[in-house]
Amino acid sequence: MWTTLSVFILCFFSPVCCVFQKLYCTLSDSCDCDFKPNIRDLEWDLYKNVYGQHLAQEIVSEEVARFLQEKNPERPLVLSFHGSSGTGKTLVSSMLGGHLYGSAMSSPYVHQFIPTLHFPLANRVDEYRTELKTWVQGNLTECARSVFIFDEMELMPPGVVDVLEPFLGPFHVVFSTNYRKAIYVFISTTGEEVINRVTLENRQAGRDREEIRLSELQDAIAQTVYNSSHSGFFQSSIIQQKLITAFVPFLPLTRLHVERCARSQLCQQGHCQRADVVEAVGGDMSYSPTQGRFFSTTGCKAVPAKINLFL
Ligand SMILES: Nc1ncnc2c1ncn2[C@@H]1O[C@H](COP(=O)(O)OP(=O)(O)O)[C@@H](O)[C@H]1O
Ligand SMILES: [Mg+2]
Repeated sequence: MWTTLSVFILCFFSPVCCVFQKLYCTLSDSCDCDFKPNIRDLEWDLYKNVYGQHLAQEIVSEEVARFLQEKNPERPLVLSFHGSSGTGKTLVSSMLGGHLYGSAMSSPYVHQFIPTLHFPLANRVDEYRTELKTWVQGNLTECARSVFIFDEMELMPPGVVDVLEPFLGPFHVVFSTNYRKAIYVFISTTGEEVINRVTLENRQAGRDREEIRLSELQDAIAQTVYNSSHSGFFQSSIIQQKLITAFVPFLPLTRLHVERCARSQLCQQGHCQRADVVEAVGGDMSYSPTQGRFFSTTGCKAVPAKINLFL
């Protein structure tokens, strides 16, 4: 504590502060790189602003709280989000990153990857692997509490993220850096069929949506991810070695949820009173299956476009 304080006092007066501080942080592993986690705010945000996703709310809140309680975690936190388009996966990953740092999602320690942008060519897997490894290593040396979000994993060429295997396990300090404080979030639509089927069967059986348990889905998602060549984890040792802390299912959204999305977005635009637009947006979405039309095929994704249409 006193050593940390004295480093910062010294840094304040010295022009060589940055170099000195970086060196100190690497060696002592005790600098917090603007890490100001606010679990209460994260939980509140999840419960208030994410609709119809009781499993994601529970798992993300619990796993993040448990992970951050440990001063020296045994392994990094690795979450894998699954579900159909527009169900809130990217939204929840932003909430997670947003409540960990002083500067929220604009923090230089929250890193987002999009395969079509960062890893577009399947024939350059070897290059991507080398780049990704060096880059993750560099960022973890800079800040052990870094967050890495890999969105749209179904478009990730197979083999790229496998290079992260040594970082995800309970391994000891490598190159003088503690890799076990990092948080990784992988996001994909892989597994949507099984998630949507279980949610439909649950509904047809007359049960509450909230009765669906993670245990009904976890193994099926893990298997699908491992066996699918479009999951980013095709036959990956990361899955084989069970390095994913938790698979997080996002359930298909109903008309009620879509209307909540519409209401919330209308309010943000200053049109809280427009129940007619909420109703029109809900009525204009496409729902599946043909019999029952329970679930929105695009989740809440098309809501802004529909609002513009009806407002
Ligand atoms: N469960 C949800 N609760 C609240 N808003 C949602 C939910 N799902 C999606 N949305 C809204 O719909 C839009 C698309 O959601 P997004 O998180 O990008 O979906 P995806 O699952 O495809 O990543 C965002 O504006 C988000 O705020
Ligand atoms: Mg998304």
